[in-house]
Amino acid sequence: MNDHSADSRHRTSESGLPLHPVYRESDLPHDLTARLGEPGSFPYTRGVYPTMYTTRPWTMRQYAGFGTAAESNARYHQLLGAGTHGLSVAFDLPTQMGYDSDAPIAHGEVGKVGVAIDSIEDMRQLFHGIPLDKVSTSMTINAPAAVLLLLYQLVAEEQGVAADQLNGTIQNDILKEYIARGTYIFPPKPSLRLVADTFAYCRAEIPRWNTISISGYHMAEAGATPAQEVAFTLANGAAYVRAAIDAGLAVDDFAPRLSFFFVARTTLLEEVAKFRAARRLWARLMRDEFGAKDPKSMMLRFHTQTAGVQLTAQQPEVNMIRVAVQALGAVLGGTQSLHTNSYDEAIALPTEKSARLALRTQQVIAHETDLTGTVDPFAGSYAVEALTDGVEEAATALMARVDEFGGAVAAIEAGFQKREIETSAYRISQEIDSGSRIVVGVNRYALDEEEPYEPLRVDPAIEAAQAARLAELRRSRDSAAVERSLAALRSAAAGTDNVLPPMREALRQRATVGEVCDALRAEWGVYRPADAF
Ligand code: 3HC
Repeated sequence: MNDHSADSRHRTSESGLPLHPVYRESDLPHDLTARLGEPGSFPYTRGVYPTMYTTRPWTMRQYAGFGTAAESNARYHQLLGAGTHGLSVAFDLPTQMGYDSDAPIAHGEVGKVGVAIDSIEDMRQLFHGIPLDKVSTSMTINAPAAVLLLLYQLVAEEQGVAADQLNGTIQNDILKEYIARGTYIFPPKPSLRLVADTFAYCRAEIPRWNTISISGYHMAEAGATPAQEVAFTLANGAAYVRAAIDAGLAVDDFAPRLSFFFVARTTLLEEVAKFRAARRLWARLMRDEFGAKDPKSMMLRFHTQTAGVQLTAQQPEVNMIRVAVQALGAVLGGTQSLHTNSYDEAIALPTEKSARLALRTQQVIAHETDLTGTVDPFAGSYAVEALTDGVEEAATALMARVDEFGGAVAAIEAGFQKREIETSAYRISQEIDSGSRIVVGVNRYALDEEEPYEPLRVDPAIEAAQAARLAELRRSRDSAAVERSLAALRSAAAGTDNVLPPMREALRQRATVGEVCDALRAEWGVYRPADAF
């Protein structure tokens, strides 16, 4: 017989805040109006734009990419045909780590968790038939973010699209890679130099490009609570702002093009509170700590992805309901861009049908609910305002602890964020194992026999196909010109000149992603974490 007792876990929130059975007017702060501000006005608690979705819905931007550039290109055309507004490229691990598909270390990973991109030829194929002045493209790439951005610019140039017409985002958030995701290459110092070079290059050449997507998502997926997600993400953001200012950039020259990326968990109320608190914290930090004057420098614009870690392999269809609730939290929290996970992602790559269904979830929320009819509907809610204040207070305390180390980089090198997140992850795991945290279909309402499911598989022949493409590229290019351009890149990396212009020339000469990253490895070395075994 299933246990139908009340779920006692919800006496505290995911961040450990008290969750009262009843909130009252006395739970509202006395200065609520000042703490909220108007939508589109400082401190942006209610949203970054005055009209939000009442004049333009969030961007429906589904993360996708696998196999060869041609296979991913087909999926992008399917998604654009199904109504997605923006593209979001998933790269395979060799590309993310700056290795070519024929590098020994790439064996078994080519085209697996994303698309394999080795050169301008692959990039050209990835966007075949997609006019780059008509879409905004996010690229989930970090250590070699500048390389993939330049390949995108070169392909746009071939399409006749000027760089100042390009709209999109590179994740380019190396600090969270040291904390939670792991696709780092270079040590922190040269990595932050490369980020600052990219900020300066985009300011001059690609002014509408969002130069970074400062991410809390992966730390959340690793176990961070909402308060830890906000605190460690904004602390990383502050480290990037400091690095850019130290590199000689004026804060209002680059800050308007910073962007963020958060998770949406199933605990909807606290997630709405989390997004509202994050906007208010960032607005105050940019104005009061960094002296930003441009309102756009204080606007925390963000993308949200529904929580992958909360998907279950058991009874996978139940994930559709989880994703719908999580997507509601992102929309009620004022996201600018949203990815909804496919219900089968806990098992394998999404099929065309499951990816389309994930997009349909957003379309139902946008077109069949009344949530685009008004801005920040939870404003004034006794519970959500109390939770917003609670998350803000808890995140502020955690950011102060990061500052005690001397900032995010020093705290990372001391292992602080990683330890905090691992402690949270362990608690969650214990709660699931004990049954105090109910996961429907897993530790309650489980089936005796799971129904069969046929996953989508990546063609194992892709590795040989990519290696053949690379051999042909190396045979047919002007090797002397490639060598000269890589030497010029190494010279810039060894000095203080911006490395992106020589990097762009090397890529135009058909140097590969791996060769460009090897040139930087030769000058900058590679990062070895303190706790590496
Ligand atoms: N009123 C006025 N203007 C409005 C408006 C409104 N209501 N709504 C939108 N606009 C304007 C904006 O000002 C903007 O104009 P601009 O470009 O001139 O500034 C334009 O319309 C587009 O609006 P947004 O910028 O809000 O929306 P975008 O979708 O273009 O950008 C973003 C959103 C968050 C700023 C951007 O950085 C973005 O798209 N990020 C996506 C990141 C992403 O997809 N990441 C995927 C990660 S997956 C991953 O990590 C892998 C795995 O490990 C999970």
